[in-house]
Amino acid sequence: MTQYSIGLTDLDVATTGYVLSLDDLADYQGTDPAKYHLGLGQDCFSVPGADEDIVTLAATAASRLVARHPEHKITQLYFATETGVDQSKSAGVFVHQLLGLAPNVRTVELKQACYSATAALQLAVGHITRFPQEQVLVIASDIARYALDTPGEPTQGAGAVAMLVSAEPHLVALEPVTGFYTADVNDFWRPTDSSTPYVNGHLSLDAYLDATAGAYDDAMRRAPGLDLEDIDRFLHHQPFTKMARKAHRHLGQHLGVELDDALIEESMSVNRQLGNSYTASLYFALAAQLTNNAELARKRLGFFSYGSGSVAEFFTGVVQPGYTVHLDYLEHLQADLNARKTLSVEQYRQLHHSYRLDSDNYTTPTDTATSFRFAGVTDHVRQYETGLLPS
Ligand code: COA
Repeated sequence: MTQYSIGLTDLDVATTGYVLSLDDLADYQGTDPAKYHLGLGQDCFSVPGADEDIVTLAATAASRLVARHPEHKITQLYFATETGVDQSKSAGVFVHQLLGLAPNVRTVELKQACYSATAALQLAVGHITRFPQEQVLVIASDIARYALDTPGEPTQGAGAVAMLVSAEPHLVALEPVTGFYTADVNDFWRPTDSSTPYVNGHLSLDAYLDATAGAYDDAMRRAPGLDLEDIDRFLHHQPFTKMARKAHRHLGQHLGVELDDALIEESMSVNRQLGNSYTASLYFALAAQLTNNAELARKRLGFFSYGSGSVAEFFTGVVQPGYTVHLDYLEHLQADLNARKTLSVEQYRQLHHSYRLDSDNYTTPTDTATSFRFAGVTDHVRQYETGLLPS
């Protein structure tokens, strides 16, 4: 049987039209801003307008990606999110329609807190193993929305990463090295009648660290030839970037070695400005890592994926030679972050209050200059419109 390498051949990203500065939030709360900049490692966070949701973010990221691959062979669309817009229908079906994909595509939504995009990626690898001529579109899209005036509030954020998985990938070949960890922990959950999660924040930090060590140990058991020194960069799930530092330090302590901070430093520049994007967060870390270092060809990345509740996975991938000519998302990544309109705290709080969980009829104002917009609800059906052309 022919052996193919399988992994990410391209990716693209999107975030919201608004941003809130953590200096402004700290000022409003009477908190020392250093708690946010140094204590959490965050500077600001993306805020969705009334006409943005996980579908519009996903469609924007995916349409940019698909536009670069007019001859694509996408037969699967896996939509990973923990902030789904329907209890039954996959958000991916809306995206499938907005992108104009062919009918013969399997579309499904996956959920396990911030972990599910990793499950989607591994399912994609499985599919390509069987059908190496095809491609899988994996989309991670989430809006992290915590209750106002809670400790989680400064760690909000939003964004989507769309990834094209194929044989002989241009960006990162995923290796069979992988390790898993599941533990029933009530650190973070969102019952179906609540628009914001219940969070035991400090328990979630401990659960994350336990899961990091557990998944890493399992991966090493499964891949006896692999050593810590074989991993050139670590990418951690980043609900706030300080968490990556904590995880990195914890892994070192667990293994009885001192791990250099330089191994994670380049992966945090985007999430510092974006905030938490839940299941997309690890893949924004990847986008930042590939962007911030031109010398990664043939280097091995170690990915730590964690989703509260909790499930974790550690896996590895090798950056492909020539990957730098395939970083088209670079053209707009920083530009999108810079283009976000700054909200005052009052405007942000008003937007937060105006969020609707119900499905009565309503229309949304044309709020942000989005490629795709959520127009409201008619007869309990969410309405989407194509707005400006994707840039
Ligand atoms: N200057 C610099 N640092 C400061 C500071 C100041 N004035 N004031 C506080 N800090 C530091 C603290 O020392 C702490 O750092 P450390 O964890 O390295 O010790 C950090 O800022 C946070 O302070 P803390 O008092 O722990 O914050 P908190 O109790 O208000 O909430 C979280 C922190 C993470 C628990 C909260 O943001 C949360 O619940 N987040 C959502 C859950 C989450 O993301 N979990 C991650 C796993 S998925």
